Amino acid sequence: MELYIDTANIDEIRQAHDMGVLDGVTTNPSLIAKEGVKYASRLEEICKVVSGPVSAEVIATDYAGMMKEGIEHSKIAPQIVVKLPCTLDGLKACRSFSDQGIKTNLTLCFQSLQALMVAKAGAFLVSPFIGRLDDIGQDGMALIREIRQVYDNYGLRTKVLAASVRHTNHLLQCALAGADVATCPFSVIKSSMIHPLTDSGIKKFLEDYRKAFG
Ligand code: G3P
Repeated sequence: MELYIDTANIDEIRQAHDMGVLDGVTTNPSLIAKEGVKYASRLEEICKVVSGPVSAEVIATDYAGMMKEGIEHSKIAPQIVVKLPCTLDGLKACRSFSDQGIKTNLTLCFQSLQALMVAKAGAFLVSPFIGRLDDIGQDGMALIREIRQVYDNYGLRTKVLAASVRHTNHLLQCALAGADVATCPFSVIKSSMIHPLTDSGIKKFLEDYRKAFG
C-alpha cells in the first residue's frame, strides 16, 4: 500500500519524507487555510520536497471554473494531481482532464457508485472518506472494501485512496482491505512505528548492557 501524507504543513511533509516512507501528498482547502499561505506557492514548495503525486484541490464548484483552476494547478509541477469533488461537474471535469492526460483525484466520495462513475471517467485516484462516514454512524471501512470489490470485478484501474484516516487502526484496516493508497495525518504516520513493548524492550536491553559493562 502506498502512503501519502494529508497535510499542507511543509515541516511535516519534510519529516515524513525523511522517514523514507512517503509516496505522495494530499492537500485540501481546509488544510491550506490552516497554514495561512497561498495555495500555489505552497504547492511549489511541496513539489520540491516530494517527487510522487501531489493532490491540489479546486475551489470552484462549476465545470468551467474547475477546468481553469485545475489547469493552473497542473502547470506548477508534473506530479500535480488535480483534485475534484465527486459531483456531476467534477465528473465532467474528470473526463476532460483525463482526455488531456492530466491526472485527477476525485474527492469527497461517500458511496461506491460515485467510485464506479469516476473510474469510468478516467480518474487516477478516488478518495473515499472513512472517518467522516464513521462520524455519522456508518462504517467507513465497508466503503473501502466495497469499492475494492467493484474495481476488481471490472479491472478498473483507478486507485483507491483511503482518506479521512483518523488513527492507526484505520490505516491497518485499509491495508487489509486492499486500498491502493492511504493518506494520513503526520500523527498517524508516526504512531504506526510506536509500540510500548519496543520502548520498554530498548530500555531493558540498555539496562542489562550497562549492568554488565558499566
Ligand atoms: O484530505 C481529505 C481528508 O483526508 C480529510 O480528512 O479528517 O478532515 O475528515 P478529515
